Amino acid sequence: MDKLVIHGQREIGGEVQISGSKNAALPILISTILTPEKVELTNVPMLQDIFTTKKLLNVLGVNVKSEGNNFVVQANKLNQFDAPYELVKTMRASILVLGPLLARFGQARVSLPGGCAIGSRPVDIHIKGFEAMGAKINISHGYIDAKSDHLPNKRLQAATIFMDQVSVTGTENLMMAATLAEGVTTLENAAREPEVVDLGECLVKMGAKIDGLGSNRIVVRGVKELSETHHQIMFDRIEAGTFLVAAAITGGEITCQGVDPGKLDAVMRKLTEAGVDIKVKGNEICAKGQRRLKAVNIITAPYPAFPTDMQAQFMAMNCVSDGVSEMTETIFENRFMHVQELIRMGADIDIKHNTAIIRGVKKLEGANVMATDLRASASLVLAGLIAEGKTTIDRIYHLDRGYEALEEKFNKIGAKIERVSA
Ligand code: UD1
Repeated sequence: MDKLVIHGQREIGGEVQISGSKNAALPILISTILTPEKVELTNVPMLQDIFTTKKLLNVLGVNVKSEGNNFVVQANKLNQFDAPYELVKTMRASILVLGPLLARFGQARVSLPGGCAIGSRPVDIHIKGFEAMGAKINISHGYIDAKSDHLPNKRLQAATIFMDQVSVTGTENLMMAATLAEGVTTLENAAREPEVVDLGECLVKMGAKIDGLGSNRIVVRGVKELSETHHQIMFDRIEAGTFLVAAAITGGEITCQGVDPGKLDAVMRKLTEAGVDIKVKGNEICAKGQRRLKAVNIITAPYPAFPTDMQAQFMAMNCVSDGVSEMTETIFENRFMHVQELIRMGADIDIKHNTAIIRGVKKLEGANVMATDLRASASLVLAGLIAEGKTTIDRIYHLDRGYEALEEKFNKIGAKIERVSA
């Protein structure tokens, strides 16, 4: 198992090209199941979750060709309808095959994702939505068995679906299914995340009829079939946010290139509040940190509010800022796994229910720490960059799941991060 060794307190600064978004690429790759025709995708990030998705599509009989960040996918010979436990357990987003398989083939069998490091993360919203569209769902032996072959022409029936909670993949799954359903489906309390919009825009290019993308009511007029298209995956706003925080805490200057700044409003606002100098120019955001920042309070919530996927990175920043801050996590129940590790590095943090109270300390010290989930790992990398001495991060497969070439990108702008293979 690989480890990262970070030599802290080096000067950092420069330009970073931000990769394609993991959370947009996953559903978009999976949406290719909806058509037998070729879909060309560019700017697909090279990271473990994408390799897992490729494997999953291959298992279903989908042809996936890739060269670097360019993919050509064609689901004209799809002949399997099962997403097996071995793949779903490593990547929860595998649940996204349910909607497209059910919509185009009238059947799907997907392993229940089960728990994960950041909480129980149920899939009831997905299931209720498909049931509202007429699917018969049977859950047994750890699998979700979904069928729509009893419906006229095996087609899902449009419905008005109110989602109890804002769910990103829930919205994506139901939106994909609705593109081929009979009639007009309305998704109420839909997720507004930019990645949902990116998926929606790709589906529209394939011939889907979707209104309301980016709002909390998405209306989908079902069509009989979708066709070929080309789509460029949007930038990864969480990767960009991670580099902006790196500039903030190291006192360096980093320019993130290839971004749409409007999609990082909440993150930029909090950085500015902390005292970071933020400049936006076209497709670039430049952040210049300072020696001491001001601690900022944060409450995570669905887009356009502050993203839960940036909570851990901002916590690393608050650890070494002046003052006491409160960070409240409202999306996932167990997303403070990085706290114990940051404490090992000298941070002063208490947890009360879903709020972490962080008292800023003068410095962090290098230590052996363990990555526990994707974004927690990113916060430990950030902490390692400013810590005195050497920080060794174990279990970095979490990091590899979601960041493209993170240590290479950091090393290019002055960091010293080594990957050690055990
Ligand atoms: C997606 C993102 C993840 C991000 C999260 C929240 C992808 C691949 N992953 O995860 O990076 O952290 O959005 O922005 O896009 N819930 C239910 N029932 C359901 C579905 C969700 O109760 O059927 C709950 C979850 O437990 C959680 C909340 O709804 O408390 C939001 O989760 P959701 O938006 O679904 O997260 P994901 O789509 O899994």
